[in-house]
Amino acid sequence: MTALRSPILVTDPHALARERELLSGPVAVVMTMGALHDGHLALLRQARTRGASVIATLFVNPLQFGPNEDFDSYPRTREDDLAAFAREQVDLVFAPSAAELYPAGPPGVRVDPGPLGTMLEGASRPGFFHGVLTVVLKMLHLTRPDAAFFGEKDYQQLTLVRAMVADFDLDVEIVGVPTVREYDGLALSSRNRHLDPDQRRSAGSLSRALAAGAAAGHLGAAAVQEAAAAVLTAEPCIAVDYLALTDPQLGPPPAYGEARLLVAARIGSTRLIDNAVIAIAGTATGGD
Ligand code: PAF
Repeated sequence: MTALRSPILVTDPHALARERELLSGPVAVVMTMGALHDGHLALLRQARTRGASVIATLFVNPLQFGPNEDFDSYPRTREDDLAAFAREQVDLVFAPSAAELYPAGPPGVRVDPGPLGTMLEGASRPGFFHGVLTVVLKMLHLTRPDAAFFGEKDYQQLTLVRAMVADFDLDVEIVGVPTVREYDGLALSSRNRHLDPDQRRSAGSLSRALAAGAAAGHLGAAAVQEAAAAVLTAEPCIAVDYLALTDPQLGPPPAYGEARLLVAARIGSTRLIDNAVIAIAGTATGGD
């Protein structure tokens, strides 16, 4: 049995810069807020296939939580996370405190996500994407990766990170990794651990709604929305925040071709999101 080599753990940006210098080959980064699950492991494994060296970040970013959100109760499982990074043979872990990452306090200058950042998650969570993009930009500067890996579960985040990289001419490849799901289709999320058994059963209806929407794709866009909404309405413990059909760039839904169906809902005090690709039937000349 080969002994596991613990990753080098650094918490301050200067130490990170020193250790980053010593990494060889292409560098891949996976940014996390910890409470790791198999979805994160999928990101780390994909990163390993792309990079000779893998950096993981571990930081619960206060900038992306609103005043009434779950920053304090967000699951923190640092020792388990470090053990998981070791099992996945991560080379370098950057796990700063808020004071180390933001030494002058919460930054006054933040990345503006533009109109795409004020819809869907951005409408429900004002300031969320300013916080996400600001920390992602900082982490990209500090870790200087060739490629960075993000889960498709956070589809709007992935879309905005891609837009930021394009708009700011950042020299990094952004790789989207498919969502990892439980036996009933529930997308893995660090917040799933807050669900009690009844809520956990209800939570499966998010992915069932997406599947119902996908199955109605041959009937057109309106039918997709109706089929998905019907599944959610039948589940009394779910408070739907949004159910939106868009094109792949989160613009208005196409008359035919590839679309995205995105859902956010609250189950008790836990807010979950999910999304799926939808193929809408039809032709360039109209009709379906
Ligand atoms: O997806 C997440 O876990 C976070 O939004 C990220 C990208 C690590 C930034 O804090």
